[in-house]
Amino acid sequence: MKAFIVYCHPSEDSFTRHVRDAFIKGIVDSGNEYILSDLYKMNFKADMTEKEYLRDANYRDTPDIAEDVLAEHEKINSADAIVFIYPVFWTEAPAKLVGWFDRVWSYGFAYGENRKMKMLKKGLILCSAGNPLERLEEFGLFDSMKKVMLGDRLFNRVEQAEFVVFTSTSRENALREKNWDSYLQTAYEKGKKLFNSK
Ligand SMILES: Cc1cc2nc3c(=O)[nH]c(=O)nc-3n(C[C@H](O)[C@H](O)[C@H](O)COP(=O)(O)O)c2cc1C
Repeated sequence: MKAFIVYCHPSEDSFTRHVRDAFIKGIVDSGNEYILSDLYKMNFKADMTEKEYLRDANYRDTPDIAEDVLAEHEKINSADAIVFIYPVFWTEAPAKLVGWFDRVWSYGFAYGENRKMKMLKKGLILCSAGNPLERLEEFGLFDSMKKVMLGDRLFNRVEQAEFVVFTSTSRENALREKNWDSYLQTAYEKGKKLFNSK
């Protein structure tokens, strides 16, 4: 089985990068495969062109999809699971990943009649947040992040979905160091068990 990992962090000097590496180790140790889109390394273009906007907004399933978007479509349809790994920025994914959804979840592929995107077995989100869980729950921010990713972006495109957030990971928080190993162990286990049945 193959996992498609969409990773988005501007720096290799980050906790999130370690989450990515631990998760990948779990995938490999389970005897499965992965492919990776590292959006910053690829310099993935996050903003839609007007042409892309008009195509999607008018529900036109035209074949003129940009090469970089087509490459992502091919990776998705060659995989059995999709995994998003990113830091929470302003209660969202980084803008580059939000833009990835704007462009890659295109009309005729991710939505619309006869969409070409396959139904994936699993969808998994591993994100890191600087704030503690209580702070994220105070105004319903945790639920908002989860609902957008599971209820809109993954929604009916995966058979099973899971949202995992590693909290209190900002650099000035002592819990970042304290939880470091157990968080990475969790990321590793998520990779190792990704394709286990329910
Ligand atoms: C621009 C920016 C916005 C951020 N916004 C949030 C936020 O809304 N909520 C939160 O919990 N953490 C926020 N953080 C903290 C990041 O999620 C933090 O980078 C993450 O906890 C993991 O650390 P890492 O960057 O070492 O991987 C933000 C960080 C930056 C740089």
